[in-house]
Amino acid sequence: MRIAVAGGTGTVGRHVAAIATERGHQVVTMSRAAGVDLVTGRGLDQALKDVDTVIDVSGIQSLSTKKAVDFFTAATQNLLAAEKVAGVKHHVALSIVGIDQANSGLYAGKLVQEDEVRHGVVPWTLLRSTQFHEFVPMSIKAASVGPLVFVPTMRTQPIAAREVAAALVDAAEAGPKGRLPDLGGPQAEQLKRLVAAYLATTHQKKRIVPLRLPGPMGKAMRNGGLIPAPGSAVGRQTFSEWLETITAA
Ligand SMILES: NC(=O)c1ccc[n+]([C@@H]2O[C@H](COP(=O)([O-])OP(=O)(O)OC[C@H]3O[C@@H](n4cnc5c(N)ncnc54)[C@H](OP(=O)(O)O)[C@@H]3O)[C@@H](O)[C@H]2O)c1
Repeated sequence: MRIAVAGGTGTVGRHVAAIATERGHQVVTMSRAAGVDLVTGRGLDQALKDVDTVIDVSGIQSLSTKKAVDFFTAATQNLLAAEKVAGVKHHVALSIVGIDQANSGLYAGKLVQEDEVRHGVVPWTLLRSTQFHEFVPMSIKAASVGPLVFVPTMRTQPIAAREVAAALVDAAEAGPKGRLPDLGGPQAEQLKRLVAAYLATTHQKKRIVPLRLPGPMGKAMRNGGLIPAPGSAVGRQTFSEWLETITAA
């Protein structure tokens, strides 16, 4: 099958492209670095030529509601419109567990994206996953000020990005199925503990400053609103096992 991966150079997208290639699919990577801009539409029509399925793992890293909503609205509408013209048969999108609990920031953008996909003309599959293990170093980078790192109080059940990628390629192969069961990692954890473990493993001396985020987003983070419900699909690699792969690399 010919699969186009929107965001195929990103944290999970790289794994999606690699796994799809390993399984014998032809892969087209769509990202600005590859000459395709989902927001302006540049390069989309050409990239989607003869494509059967699109896996959308594009995204921006912003806490701004406006930026997130603007990005996911434009990117998803442009992508779906170009898919219709190109005759793409299946659109697979990745979203985040628990986003309905907080219609703000990045999650507001993801809710708009889900809505566009559900009401779009291209048959679809939607998978919500929890935060990737890689979310921990990303958070440290984004929230460090000198020797301090500000860590929100958050319960998370992180999963290996590679396992999420494999589930997305499975979904592409299975055909349109609507919303799949949520996918989370094997263990629920406090983000603060994961940050401390990552800092220790990577020999970084930073002081963790706990942060209680306000509003529905902060509440969802604190009270387990971003943890998958019982009966959800569960990944295998724990955060500690993922950390071992970093030190081995
Ligand atoms: N990170 C997590 O823990 C997590 C958990 C669950 C779900 N998700 C969702 O999964 C998706 C991927 O997350 P990620 O962490 O892998 O993202 P990421 O590492 O930030 O990668 C984002 C990808 O999107 C591409 N992109 C950004 N703007 C673009 C544009 N205008 N046109 C074309 N491509 C564009 C980037 O490539 P260029 O910069 O080259 O354009 C990159 O390939 C996101 O939608 C996110 O919300 C993330």
